[in-house]
Amino acid sequence: MLYNTAPDKLFIPQTAVDPLGFGKVAIVTGCASGIGLAVTQVLLAHQFQVCGLDVAEFDYQLLREADHGRFHFHRGDLTAPGVCEEGVRIAAHAFGSRVDVLVNVAGMMDNFHSADGVSDDIWDKVVAINLTAPVKMMRSVLPFMKAKKDGVIVNVASTAGMSGAIAGIAYTSSKHGLIGATKNVAWRFRNDGIRCNAVLPGAVDSGVGKTIAAGRNNELWDSEAFAEIEPVHALQARPSESTGSITAHEVAKTIAFLVSDQARTINGVSLPVDKAWGVV
Ligand SMILES: NC(=O)c1ccc[n+]([C@@H]2O[C@H](COP(=O)([O-])OP(=O)(O)OC[C@H]3O[C@@H](n4cnc5c(N)ncnc54)[C@H](O)[C@@H]3O)[C@@H](O)[C@H]2O)c1
Repeated sequence: MLYNTAPDKLFIPQTAVDPLGFGKVAIVTGCASGIGLAVTQVLLAHQFQVCGLDVAEFDYQLLREADHGRFHFHRGDLTAPGVCEEGVRIAAHAFGSRVDVLVNVAGMMDNFHSADGVSDDIWDKVVAINLTAPVKMMRSVLPFMKAKKDGVIVNVASTAGMSGAIAGIAYTSSKHGLIGATKNVAWRFRNDGIRCNAVLPGAVDSGVGKTIAAGRNNELWDSEAFAEIEPVHALQARPSESTGSITAHEVAKTIAFLVSDQARTINGVSLPVDKAWGVV
């Protein structure tokens, strides 16, 4: 079982060889921490060649030394002009002009502001990384996938991509938009051998989740809006409860399933990874 609960520790899978990713190239955005790091570790364990993109520096000590040769890191702000396109070019160049898998993970939380108070700055930043960058990444990988009539895209949305009671207006709108983009790509390229799905994590014990946990008293937050949302957050499983919280690796394992041939008929879905939170 390729499984680990803490992506900030060295990951050593228990199985020696898994052929899922042999000869295949995957691009993972937001690879330096949290869910993106876990996806990187899991795909490397499945023998993919992985190109990771992130604005933050990458700590190679978090990968098995044996995996270093199949990993290429490119640092860049995916909201800056041309950086998504450059990242895909670099990935294709690093691993033999092919891109088989794209996992759009990079993203950020907003400050819970509602439509009556959201600033231009927060709206622009959140939409740029949570929605515009994934669309630009998809636009850049599609020529490689169409040429081979084969490819898988997974977009990391959120429970907030379906619900209006989880986050502020910027985050909520960006994740709803990402689900729309996912469906549009799935339908448009379904006859090109390309699948595009979204996962909708609930509260995960990683960067965005920690921001929420740490920021309750943040003066930049809209505390009035957060008070409306907090009771809904309280319904998500918490670490103290017997089922435990959702880990970044649990999300990564679901993504690995969607990438695999076992999911070859699954296209255009928005798959909750939330221990039933989304049914509320
Ligand atoms: N943690 C949760 O509770 C949760 C729940 C649902 C959805 N999500 C989504 O999962 C994704 C990852 O969340 P996480 O909790 O692992 O967060 P995280 O903060 O641990 O990781 C996000 C990564 O994205 C990178 N990033 C941010 N802006 C970037 C930019 N402009 N260019 C390049 N890289 C950039 C960061 O440097 C970081 O490494 C996000 O899209 C988030 O919305 C998280």
